[in-house]
Amino acid sequence: MNANNTFKKEALALYKDISLMDKIHMWIRYSLCPFDYLETYLPKEGRVLDFGCGHGIFANLMSLKSLRREVVGIDPSETKIEAATKSINSRQNIKFIKTEFEQLDKDKFTAITMIDVLYLIPHNEQDKILNMCRTYLNKGGLLMIKETVSSNSLRFAIASLEEWIMVKILRKTLGEDHFYYRTEEEWVKLLNELGYQCKSIKLKTFAPSYLFLCSLK
Ligand SMILES: C[S@@+](CC[C@H](N)C(=O)[O-])C[C@H]1O[C@@H](n2cnc3c(N)ncnc32)[C@H](O)[C@@H]1O
Repeated sequence: MNANNTFKKEALALYKDISLMDKIHMWIRYSLCPFDYLETYLPKEGRVLDFGCGHGIFANLMSLKSLRREVVGIDPSETKIEAATKSINSRQNIKFIKTEFEQLDKDKFTAITMIDVLYLIPHNEQDKILNMCRTYLNKGGLLMIKETVSSNSLRFAIASLEEWIMVKILRKTLGEDHFYYRTEEEWVKLLNELGYQCKSIKLKTFAPSYLFLCSLK
């Protein structure tokens, strides 16, 4: 078994008390999203905010992979934060809060992660949130964004349909009536305009997706 599979097993094992459906959902989520690869780009120590953490699988992975990280996961979904909180057990380097960004205290972070969240948020709100990150990041801090990007491909059509089912039919994800995807070029342009130096990395995922690594200019 390779090291990443060990962490996958360890992270998923934290969720003993959730329903079978949620366990299956999380197993699929972990299998589709390259969480272990994303984690390698993050600093090994300091405060990390996982914005839109959902059940907290990536936040948990970050906290398990380095005890020198202090991880805070936030999400507006009460049920997800409840499940995430149960997964903490007695660990000290992680917490989950049901809150909006604006209501967080003003302590700064070494890194902020946003993994498949922004497409659920209207474009003007995305701009506000990304601007707010500037005030929450330490000097030299990293903003990490992972997003499915829009394209004319069949894979994008399938990924959008899957999201539509998750949000509208299964109601597993909080979201509005619409998705707010952007192309890779549009993300890079926006992030540059908002004052970030941005590197984009194409991910080897079924849905066309990119990792954006942003630092303040
Ligand atoms: C597809 S899930 C991704 C969850 C997690 N980041 C992951 O990678 O497994 C999207 C998450 O974004 C959250 N979300 C929706 N609207 C949000 C908002 N306005 N602010 C923060 N999070 C939001 C949802 O509640 C959901 O947990």
